Amino acid sequence: MDVRINPSILAADFANLERDIQTISTADLVHVDVMDNHFVPNLTFGLAMVERLQAVSPVPLDVHLMIDDPDRWAPGYAEAGAFSVTFHAEAARDAVALARRLRGIGARAGLALKPDTPVEPFLDLLPEFDQVLVMTVEPGFGGQSFLESTMPKLAALRRAVAACGLDVWLQVDGGINEETIGTAADAGANTFVAGSSVFKSDDPAAQIALLREAAAAHAH
Ligand code: DX5
Ligand code: ZN
Repeated sequence: MDVRINPSILAADFANLERDIQTISTADLVHVDVMDNHFVPNLTFGLAMVERLQAVSPVPLDVHLMIDDPDRWAPGYAEAGAFSVTFHAEAARDAVALARRLRGIGARAGLALKPDTPVEPFLDLLPEFDQVLVMTVEPGFGGQSFLESTMPKLAALRRAVAACGLDVWLQVDGGINEETIGTAADAGANTFVAGSSVFKSDDPAAQIALLREAAAAHAH
């Protein structure tokens, strides 16, 4: 099974994003957390910043929109060239229509679920998505502890993906480090967002390699 490690620049130095993003060139994608102070109680950056990151990043962009009204705002991130655009199920008015629009622009479409959002209503929609993001912390901040209670949701997704024979990537985001990544991989994740564990490390490239190894040891 493929393993993808996507460092989150939420944990990078915002005054030195171009410098920090160069330190993760061995990652698969760079995870970009867009927050609007409404869907989550935190504010990060928007489209203009993502366009600049797209221009300087050594790896493609995995944009995670923690915003209200993604139906209106998400397509702009796909048009900016993001490799994947993930929006929250709790915020979208018409998740399927939005996913189709994102794919039509050329981005991979992702559906994100907060820790308390059940997955069952979305299992039939899997063919509409390229990725499902199971939040393993409450969205809004980096540096929180991994919620193991979200693992059954991942296992249900893994079974549903296997049953329909599609290659939908299963992403986890929040509290992922060399200790928790194995638990998430065992439950079925193959795409791992890691903020603090990569950018707060002295050697981001070595940390990416360590996470990759730890995930691969558990991948099934
Ligand atoms: C939280 C964000 C995460 C965050 C993860 O709402 O979606 O991407 O950067 O940070 P860590 O890995 O520090 O938990
Ligand atoms: Zn995120």
